[in-house]
Amino acid sequence: MEHVPSPREMNRVTHLYKTLCWTGDANGQLLLLDQTRLPLHVEHTLCTTAEDVWNAVKVLKVRGAPAIGVAAAYGVVIGLQASRKAPVDEFLQEVDRVTAYLATSRPTAVNLFWALSRMKSVASNCDASTAAEIHDRLLAEARLIELEDKAMCSAIGRHGSTLLKSGMSILTHCNAGGLATAGDGTALAVMFQAAADGKDIHVFADETRPLLQGARLTTWELQQRGIPVTLICDNMAAQVMKEGRIQIVITGADRIAANGDAANKIGTYGVAVLARYHGIPFCVAAPSSTFDLSLADGSGIPIEQRASEEVTCGFGTRTAPEQTIVYNPAFDVTPAGLISAIITERGIIQAPTTQAVREHLA
Ligand code: MRU
Repeated sequence: MEHVPSPREMNRVTHLYKTLCWTGDANGQLLLLDQTRLPLHVEHTLCTTAEDVWNAVKVLKVRGAPAIGVAAAYGVVIGLQASRKAPVDEFLQEVDRVTAYLATSRPTAVNLFWALSRMKSVASNCDASTAAEIHDRLLAEARLIELEDKAMCSAIGRHGSTLLKSGMSILTHCNAGGLATAGDGTALAVMFQAAADGKDIHVFADETRPLLQGARLTTWELQQRGIPVTLICDNMAAQVMKEGRIQIVITGADRIAANGDAANKIGTYGVAVLARYHGIPFCVAAPSSTFDLSLADGSGIPIEQRASEEVTCGFGTRTAPEQTIVYNPAFDVTPAGLISAIITERGIIQAPTTQAVREHLA
């Protein structure tokens, strides 16, 4: 049987923590840092079936648009392990079934669909004569998606860091860090790079109701990396801006339409409105895998609706009466007109428009 790294070994893979890790050959498994347990418990969960991966994405054990894409790619490999000896046409039918199944886990982050469609096209364009060979190629593709994601994070960090100067305080929302990617993150990669460049920066993290990705994950991650961070409740952002404590806002994105409208964690749109009112630049950091050029604008982005208990009974503590009616959209869309810049691995799109996005991604 393949060696499965212990959490201790896994955390040695990078200097601090690793969001996901494939172990072994095409019959291997996916080890995830269980983000539902952070920050109190650094625990890992092993995915050995496509259902495990689907569930991990659904309940946010693995989360953040790029990380979901990478996990889903490995989920395809896992879901096809039992079909390695099948005839090729049956194997290809299984590819369709497994990718369609994983696509139902969460609707908003386009990286999920992008990664699944890459996996599908590798299988259907592969000239291999056996299912096992195609399966090996699928593992190679999943590994490539992971490696590319790491490289995109580093490049986003390098480009975005040029926007930061010593003495700046940056507001971020949700978690767009290493925990949300296979690398150093998107929005947080900018901060990690600026700190590595010797810039003295400070981060304000919105706690990000209802699932507290800012409080639980962003503060944890920044503390791990030695970057000063101050946690605020979501409803404090306006006051903190008014007091002149924020010089720039940087968030991640789950899906960016062709005109630059950007979906991100619920509350991001409100932060962008506040930033505009206070004359503070609002920037989005995301890899090109987060763009969905099939959508002319953000109105077509599907917004995930999540369980009412996340609002009324978060983390097991009831905070609203039983039977309370709840509306719980997990994401919102910030119009491009409120976005000062989009930072990608290719550079920076200033004041995004359809034309600027098209030229940037060409
Ligand atoms: O519901 P989540 O935690 O998956 O939401 C994550 C976000 O909204 C992130 O900001 C986004 O995926 C970008 S991650 C680089």
